[in-house]
Amino acid sequence: MTVFEPYTLGNLTLKNKIVMAPMTRSRAIDNIPNDLMVTYYEQRSDAGLIISEGVSPSINGTGYARIPGAYTEAQIQGWEKIASAIHAKESKLFVQLMHCGRSSAKVNQPEGARTIAPSSVQLEGEIYTDQGMAPYDIPEAMSIEDIKTTQNDFVQAAAKLIKAGVDGIELHSANGYLLDQFLNPVTNQRTDDYGGDYKNRVRFVLETVQQTVEAIGANKIGVRISPHGAFNSMAHEYEDLVAMYSYFAEELNKLQIAYLHIVDHRPMGAPDFSTDVLARLRNIFKGTIISGGGVTSAQQAQDYLNKGNDLVYIGRPYISNPNLVEKLKQERELTPPNMDTFYTPGVLGYTDYALF
Ligand SMILES: Cc1cc2nc3c(=O)[nH]c(=O)nc-3n(C[C@H](O)[C@H](O)[C@H](O)COP(=O)(O)O)c2cc1C
Repeated sequence: MTVFEPYTLGNLTLKNKIVMAPMTRSRAIDNIPNDLMVTYYEQRSDAGLIISEGVSPSINGTGYARIPGAYTEAQIQGWEKIASAIHAKESKLFVQLMHCGRSSAKVNQPEGARTIAPSSVQLEGEIYTDQGMAPYDIPEAMSIEDIKTTQNDFVQAAAKLIKAGVDGIELHSANGYLLDQFLNPVTNQRTDDYGGDYKNRVRFVLETVQQTVEAIGANKIGVRISPHGAFNSMAHEYEDLVAMYSYFAEELNKLQIAYLHIVDHRPMGAPDFSTDVLARLRNIFKGTIISGGGVTSAQQAQDYLNKGNDLVYIGRPYISNPNLVEKLKQERELTPPNMDTFYTPGVLGYTDYALF
């Protein structure tokens, strides 16, 4: 089975096994998906599946400048347009729900938002804002009420997106954002049922998945994880890491979600690791697994499939090669992306990359 052949994901038929990776592009002025974004996603619809950039399920979940949301009527209408443009090109769309948690600064948030996290542990360093670099906020430790409200925010956003025609949602439990902040002992120092041993640290995410399953159905849900990830100053090694991810995968397997999406940022320079966590996850999780990282040729994509993954994600090459699948098929040279325009507003470095 080659990477260019179709794949059945739940009720969906994907036209190939290439997944456009979720990538924040910061073009959503006032956090509302707009027509420029419709063009961007439509241009990249040769992917079998598109996973959207990180989308906030609530005002509290915003953190970076100009990221889109899925909590107002105008935002949902924006996603409806994007989904319909993608469907017209016979591709599929999962929207990634990303709550930034502590990876946030007040200036990047709408009026009235709160920066919340499992524990009040500030992220060191500075975050980009349109007014200049700023320290990350000192987050408020979430109360039990905050936990329930936030879980409900995910569920509501998911339900509205599905109603608007989106094919599914991905819960972003990787890369140091809120869900990952619950998993990781560096950011989770709670002493209640949501902190401490690994079963407790996984509780917030599993409950959120469970509630979302009840609202929209398991076959419309994916979960992204980054075991051994170090991005956003997460601890990339800790004693119960393999045990925790094994348990997490067992529980997700029982819930029969559409896919498990595993980030491996070693091709991007992340620290190496020697545990067998990836092979274990493949053994435990019986559903679809998406993985990737550093892919720039059809052969490299195929190598990920040969290692036991079902679908392969490709990120950066999609920024600068809108018709990436066609280029990979024809073994054409890829256009390198311009990093300076990854997160800048407007057309430049966004929808103006040539097809060939
Ligand atoms: C500009 C940019 C924005 C990204 N934003 C997100 C994001 O919103 N959510 C996410 O899960 N990963 C995000 N990532 C990580 C990518 O999904 C992917 O894992 C990473 O780029 C490695 O894949 P690649 O080597 O094919 O680029 C981002 C990466 C880049 C380059």
